[in-house]
Amino acid sequence: SDIIAVVPAAGVGKRMKSSIPKQYLKIGDKTILEHTVLRLLDHPSISHVVIAISDGDEYFSQTCLKHHDRVRIVSGGKERADSVLSGLKSLQNTDWVMVHDAARPCVALDDIDALIAEATTHADGAILACPVRDTMKRGSATGEINETVCREQLWHALTPQMFNCGQLLKALEDALNKGLPVTDEASAIELSGSSPKLVTGSASNIKVTQPEDLALATFYLSTACP
Ligand code: CTP
Ligand code: MG
Repeated sequence: SDIIAVVPAAGVGKRMKSSIPKQYLKIGDKTILEHTVLRLLDHPSISHVVIAISDGDEYFSQTCLKHHDRVRIVSGGKERADSVLSGLKSLQNTDWVMVHDAARPCVALDDIDALIAEATTHADGAILACPVRDTMKRGSATGEINETVCREQLWHALTPQMFNCGQLLKALEDALNKGLPVTDEASAIELSGSSPKLVTGSASNIKVTQPEDLALATFYLSTACP
């Protein structure tokens, strides 16, 4: 099947505290964005990758992705959801779309397989997710514990997240038009009244977010099979 991957890569990486956006930091001989996109292109079901980059991005043109025949570029937006929407709007005649953070270079092809199997058999799409491990607390504004939240049904939402392209486009547009918060694709689908499937993925599929994550991503990328 032909799946298109949309990769939001238009963030500034504030929490990373580096002088350049985190997706352009190098791990070994490649930027994080290159690792991420080349990994996606390694999957036999993914035909193209659409990358949303910020207007005025000075780094993308220096990557090996610039002249790649299965990579396209769109301009990103203010929030992640705007960047994803920009990518979706550029797609024509696409049934399935997989959205994956530029900042998750360690995604395993096996996890993508599992995601595709679920998303294509479940009406409302599917996302990779990881059960939470720690005891969860709800805190007050002043940092005291209000309560312990049952961990049993709590998951970390990861990416990729895979949906019918038209369904996701409509759900995202509706949610953004209403000013509702959309921090991942599933949340937009949820707001439209549907329930995407949770697919257990690897905890190594981290989102490089803070400085210490770089060493972790370097380690995961160095461990043999993706
Ligand atoms: N992203 C995007 N457009 C935005 C904001 C984020 O395409 N307006 C992308 C980021 O480049 C990243 C992914 O969405 O690949 C996940 O977002 P996050 O980890 O929050 O990245 P940043 O927003 O760049 O980081 P921070 O929140 O620390 O500033
Ligand atoms: Mg962000």
